Amino acid sequence: MSCPCVRIKFRRDSGIAYLNALERLKKRVLDTKSYSYEEVHEVLRLHLNECLYKPPPHVVEAVNRVIAESNLYPHLDMFNRFRELLAKYNRIDASMVHPFPGADSALRTLFHAFTDPGDSILFLRPTFSMIEIYSNYFGLRKLCLDLAEGNDTWIVDYDKLVELSKRSDLVVIVDPNNPTGNPVFGGEKKLLESIALSTKGFVVVDETYHEFSGYTVANYVSEFPNVVVVRSLSKAFCLAGFRLGYIIAHPEVLKNVAKVLTTFDIPTPSLAAGIAALDNLDYHMKIIERIKLAREKLYAVLKSMGFKVYKSHANFLLVKDGRALDKHLLNHGIAIKRVGKDLHRISVGSEEAVERLLQALSDLT
Ligand SMILES: Cc1ncc(COP(=O)(O)O)c(C=O)c1O
Repeated sequence: MSCPCVRIKFRRDSGIAYLNALERLKKRVLDTKSYSYEEVHEVLRLHLNECLYKPPPHVVEAVNRVIAESNLYPHLDMFNRFRELLAKYNRIDASMVHPFPGADSALRTLFHAFTDPGDSILFLRPTFSMIEIYSNYFGLRKLCLDLAEGNDTWIVDYDKLVELSKRSDLVVIVDPNNPTGNPVFGGEKKLLESIALSTKGFVVVDETYHEFSGYTVANYVSEFPNVVVVRSLSKAFCLAGFRLGYIIAHPEVLKNVAKVLTTFDIPTPSLAAGIAALDNLDYHMKIIERIKLAREKLYAVLKSMGFKVYKSHANFLLVKDGRALDKHLLNHGIAIKRVGKDLHRISVGSEEAVERLLQALSDLT
C-alpha cells in the first residue's frame, strides 16, 4: 500500500529513511469501518437519542463553580463523591461501581479487558453500531444472532442465544436494545443465568436506556460475577455533553478491569455535573416520566396514523417505512436516523418535539 501522506521520515545512522506506517498497522484496525456521523445544524435533533431538556440550573451552577480550577487535575474527593452517589442511586456498595467518561468508553475498556484477538463475541443484530465496530477493531470472531421481526416487537430466539453463548468468549447485550427499543433480559434472572453459566467468558449488559425501561439485571452481578452492567448519564440525566457513564460489576472483577483507569479520567466539570445531578434526583425523575409519557403518546399516534412502529422501553421509537422519512423530515427541519433498510429511529426528545414531529409526518398520511 502506498500513501505518501503517511510515509514517515526518520533518521537512521546512515541518514534519512522512510517507512510506510500503514503497512505496520494491524489488519484488523485497517479493516474496521469507523462510526459514520455527519453533524446536522439548526434542526430538531431526534437522531441521537439525546435528552432535549437542558441540565437543571443547579447542575450548571455546580459546573461553573469548578471551571476556574481546570488548571488542576480532577480532585480525588470529587471522583469518590461521584462514585458514592452512583452507588447510592443504585443501592449498592461503592466497590461495585466505577465511573467512566461515557458508556462508550466503558464498553471499550470491557472489550480490552475481556477479549484477545481471535476470541468469539456474541451479540444481537440489529444493535448499537459500536458493538460491531469494537468487535472488528479488537479482531473478534462475530457470532451474531439476528432478531426476527414481530408485530410490534423484535423477537429473540432465546434457545439459540443460549446455544451460541456456549461458543462465546464475550456476550454483549444491549437492554433495552438500540435501535429496536425492546427488552432482551427485561430484568429477568432466568435467561441471564443460562447465558452467564454457559458462556466461556463475560456477559456485558449495556443498560444505557435503563431509566426509561425501569428494569435491570444489576442486582444479579454479585450472584453471577461474570456479568457486568454498563450505564450512561447521557440520556435520562440530560448530560451527554459531559460524557459520563459507569459500570456495575463484582468488586474483584471491577478492581482488575480498573487497572488501566485513573481517577483523572473524568474531567472536573463533568464530575461536578454528575455529582449535582445525582445529589438532586427530583428534576431527572420528572423528566424521565415526561419522556416516557411522550413516548407512549408518540407510539399511539403513529400507530393510529398507520405507521408500523415497535413498542419501545427506551427514549426512542423504531419505525418501519419504505419511504424516505429521514429526507422528508429533514425538509421540515427535523433530523432522525436511518438505521437499516426501511428502518428509522426517532428520539422522543420532549413533548414539544413530539408535536413538531407529528405535524411534519401528517403530510404523509
Ligand atoms: C446502547 C448504547 N450504548 C452506549 C451509548 C453511548 O453512551 P454514552 O453517551 O454514555 O457514551 C449509546 C449512545 O447512544 C447507546 O445507544
